[in-house]
Amino acid sequence: MATPIKPTSHTLLCFCCFLLLFTIPPPSVAAGDSSSPSQVISRFQQYLQINTAQPTPDYHLAAEFLISQADSISLPSRSIEFVHGKPLVLIHWPGSDPDLPSILLYSHTDVVPAEPHKWDHPPFSAHLDPSSGRIFARGSQDMKCVGMQYLEAVRRLKASGFRPRRSVYLAFSPDEEIGGHDGAEKFAYSDVFDALNVGIVLDEGLASPGDSYRPFYAERSPWWLVIKAVGAPGHGAKLYDNSAVENLLKSIESIRRFRASQFDLVKAGLRAEGEVISVNMAFLKAGTPSPTGFVMNLQPSEAEAGFDIRIPPTADPESLERRINEEWAPVSRNMTFQVMMLSLLAPMNGDRLIANKVRRREQ
Ligand SMILES: *[C@@H]1O[C@H](CO)[C@@H](O)[C@H](O)[C@H]1NC(C)=O
Repeated sequence: MATPIKPTSHTLLCFCCFLLLFTIPPPSVAAGDSSSPSQVISRFQQYLQINTAQPTPDYHLAAEFLISQADSISLPSRSIEFVHGKPLVLIHWPGSDPDLPSILLYSHTDVVPAEPHKWDHPPFSAHLDPSSGRIFARGSQDMKCVGMQYLEAVRRLKASGFRPRRSVYLAFSPDEEIGGHDGAEKFAYSDVFDALNVGIVLDEGLASPGDSYRPFYAERSPWWLVIKAVGAPGHGAKLYDNSAVENLLKSIESIRRFRASQFDLVKAGLRAEGEVISVNMAFLKAGTPSPTGFVMNLQPSEAEAGFDIRIPPTADPESLERRINEEWAPVSRNMTFQVMMLSLLAPMNGDRLIANKVRRREQ
């Protein structure tokens, strides 16, 4: 990425304009001008009505719509197919000083599938409930609202006579919901992207029902770690070293000390919660089942524990890997581990994670 820049006043202005969408009066106060609330809502509904649900998104209809929006505010746009049938729409608002690093307002056009029979209103109807002002549509939050807010903000700023110093680009990309490989990834590695000289990107975040807009940065990445200990099984009455549970407990103690050291930094006010590595145990698995619970006079030969670890971008992942190897699942204690390094696709729910790397050490 090019020289880092500070967000300029007009990015902030954009943010302010985004808020307007959420504080609109009911659509009955229709007016002719294209910035009236009813027009804004109706454009949003049109975008929502385009069925861009995976696995068969109607990308061409979405691209056509977005290009027509760009035309309506007299901004040049193009549809680029890095992969055939998967257009990325790029809209350009030229700045008065186009040599400065630009601002990229990014969103994706595809949405996750919906189960229509579970919906009060069909998921691509964009039904507007007049009493609550709510719009029912798949993708209304993730993230067509953001894409439309960018466009509406630009529309308003442009209509007010504002001209940005930096060039502003709006990118509407395909395939985010399935990993983004044919969309954002190809775009990020393309000459097209290089030529934009991007200084800052605004991407997906949380929709806000109120007047405040929350910026997120430095998303932590999840690692899911499972450690496994083995050891000679034995009678429950016998004291001996290197049982599976004893071996596992040594690791758990070490992990707990690490957890406490991180948490202490937060408690002492030295670090924010998002700036330390968090480790929390997700499961513990050991024991020999019996009809009434567990066999109580037997030390099991295997024991396993799972941890949800979250790593801030400032932490050194290699040193954590070393720690796992040497302290949390050391060969010297006959331990094995598996860690899934995940990409977080939906920070708000944490429910859509893809494993992009798996490290394991088996015996
Ligand atoms: C590891 O396994 C070997 C072979 O079963 C055993 O001799 C040794 O005691 C074990 N070490 C530990 C620390 O459990």
